[in-house]
Amino acid sequence: MIELIDTRKVFNVGKPNEFTAVHDVSLCIPSSRVTVLKGPSGSGKTTLLSLVGCMARPTSGRIILSSVRLHSPLWEFSGGEVSSLPERFLTEIRRHTFGFIFQQYHLIRGMSVLENVMLPAYPCGEPYGLLKRRAMALLDQFGIGGKAASRMEWLSGGEAQRLAIARALINDPQAIIADEPTAHLDSRLSEELMAILLGLRDQGKTVIIASHDPIVCDSQRVDGVFELRDGRVVSTT
Ligand SMILES: Nc1ncnc2c1ncn2[C@@H]1O[C@H](COP(=O)(O)OP(=O)(O)O)[C@@H](O)[C@H]1O
Ligand SMILES: [Mg+2]
Repeated sequence: MIELIDTRKVFNVGKPNEFTAVHDVSLCIPSSRVTVLKGPSGSGKTTLLSLVGCMARPTSGRIILSSVRLHSPLWEFSGGEVSSLPERFLTEIRRHTFGFIFQQYHLIRGMSVLENVMLPAYPCGEPYGLLKRRAMALLDQFGIGGKAASRMEWLSGGEAQRLAIARALINDPQAIIADEPTAHLDSRLSEELMAILLGLRDQGKTVIIASHDPIVCDSQRVDGVFELRDGRVVSTT
């Protein structure tokens, strides 16, 4: 589904602090599978995720989303290279294709649980009532429907984690990208998170996780692991 061909990411190009975070990486991330990007801190996992998730553009190389289809009144995308698309198209592809679970969750304090889930869907212009119903269904699915009106900061660690997953799913993305999702969880909650992500895979979602946590990387149930060192893929299993 997602193919990277000789993808390179250089920060601060042409400046004294120029730094190549990803060196000509080529890899294929299959659809409806769990793929892990494994590697120590600084190995380029987050940078690679941001390229895969169309949050950043590669300095060189190509990124191809072959199974993504988007129809909007103004344009149509029927799969292909995304690295060279204009920003507004890239934003639209990103919004419809990917749901993101960030390391610190990036939930918004002061807002309710329900509002946090609905947030990524506001730019899509869906009627409020419909959106609210979809958001409530997701909260119910993850067992936190009863907390919809609570402020996000009142949630326990496990509830906040499930809220982050619900929010990632609000636009019904084909793929979920999770950056070190277990970094702040104890082993029980980490196992629970993995079970949820594997369950999403079983429902057909493509799951891409960056992690160096053995609970994630060494799980027998993940489908593929790319190991990174200093911005290069050093092994594939
Ligand atoms: N915006 C940036 N500007 C300059 N260097 C960066 C930037 N983002 C990341 N880096 C550098 O790229 C390398 C890889 O970072 P990152 O992708 O965050 O690694 P990881 O997620 O594996 O810890 C690190 O050395 C980091 O300092
Ligand atoms: Mg990182």
